[in-house]
Amino acid sequence: GFKERVFSGVQPTGNLHLGNYLGAIKRFVALQDGYDCIYCVVDLHAITVPQNPDELRGQIREVTAAFIAAGIDPARNIVFNQSQVHEHAELAWIFNCVARMGWLNRMTQFKEKAGKDREAASVGLFAYPTLMAADILAYRATHVPVGEDQKQHLELTRDIAQKFNNDWSAAIAANGFGEAFFPLTEPLIGGPAARVMSLRDGTKKMSKSDPSDNSRINLTDDAEAIAQKIRKAKTDPEPLPSEERGLEARPEADNLVGIYAALADRTKAEVLADHGGAQFSAFKAALIDLAVDKLSPITAEMKRLTGDPAYIDGVLAEGAERAGAIARETLDAVKDIVGF
Ligand code: ADP
Ligand code: NA
Repeated sequence: GFKERVFSGVQPTGNLHLGNYLGAIKRFVALQDGYDCIYCVVDLHAITVPQNPDELRGQIREVTAAFIAAGIDPARNIVFNQSQVHEHAELAWIFNCVARMGWLNRMTQFKEKAGKDREAASVGLFAYPTLMAADILAYRATHVPVGEDQKQHLELTRDIAQKFNNDWSAAIAANGFGEAFFPLTEPLIGGPAARVMSLRDGTKKMSKSDPSDNSRINLTDDAEAIAQKIRKAKTDPEPLPSEERGLEARPEADNLVGIYAALADRTKAEVLADHGGAQFSAFKAALIDLAVDKLSPITAEMKRLTGDPAYIDGVLAEGAERAGAIARETLDAVKDIVGF
C-alpha cells in the first residue's frame, strides 16, 4: 500500500478566478485535515506559453498568497514552487520516454490551447501532461484534487505509472519495491463547482485566458466588481426551478446555482429548496452577498501577503527544501530502477 498523499498545483499565469478557487484551492484547504498535502505553484507549466519575466515573478507570489489567504497552512503542508525542485523536470524527461506519442495526441487541452496553428505551439505545451505526471508521481501522490478540465491529464498520469510499473517490473522487484513503484493516482473531482462556467457564456469554462474580464470573478476583484459582474451575468428569463432536474438545458442557471452551492458548502438541491421560484434579480442579490462575504476576506489577506514578498519567498524556500527531500528520494530510486 502507498501512503495516502495529496498533490495538486496551480499555474502562476495571472487572473486567478472563482473557478480556480472553487474547483481547486477551496478543496485543497478542506483536504488538509484528512491528508498529508503538497501544493505547488507550477511555473514550469506557465512557460509553455510566453510569459513576461517580471510579471511571472509577481504571479508566483500571488498564487502562493492565494493558497495561504484561502486557508492552506504552510507549516502543516508543503507549499512550494515547481522550478525550485529540479527533480520535476528530470522525472518528466524519463516520463517523456515512457509516454507514447499517440497518448499525447489525444489530449484535448493541447488542441484547445494550441489553437489553429499547432505547428507553432511549443513542444512544452504538447508535453505538458508528462510534466504533470512527474509533479504528481515525484511524491507518489495517491490523490489529486482538480477541476474536471484536468481529468484526461490524470488518466494519462495513471497510464504512465502503469507502463513504468510494467516495463521495469523486474528491476522494481529487484530493488525491493515489490510489485509497483508508482501508485495509480485517483482524481478527486466533483461537487457543485467541478466546472465553473463563464458568466458571459454558459457553454465555456471560466478561464484566465478569456479576453472578457466580465466572464470571470477574479480573486483580486473588490466587492463592487463582484456585484457588477454577477448582476451582468447572462441568465434566461425563467425563475429558478425548485428541483435540480429543472436546471437541465439551462446552463447559465445551473452555473449560478452551482457557484452558490459551492460557496455555501451546500448541494444544488439544497440551494433550490430555498430559492426555487425566485426571479434571477433576487437570486443574484443573494449570490452577490454570499460571494462578497466569502471572497472579500481572502482578497484582503492576499493583498496583505503580496505586500510582504520576503515572507512569501521564505515560505517557498522552506517548502522547496521539504518537497525536494521527498522528490530526491523518488528520483534516486527511479534511477536505480532505470539503470542510471
Ligand atoms: P486555468 O485553467 O484557469 O489556466 P490552471 O490550469 O492553473 O488554471 O488550473 C488550476 C486549477 O483550477 C486546476 O485544478 C483546474 O482544474 C481548476 N480550474 C480551472 N478552471 C476551472 C473552472 N472553470 N472550474 C473549475 N475548476 C477550474
Ligand atoms: Na486548467
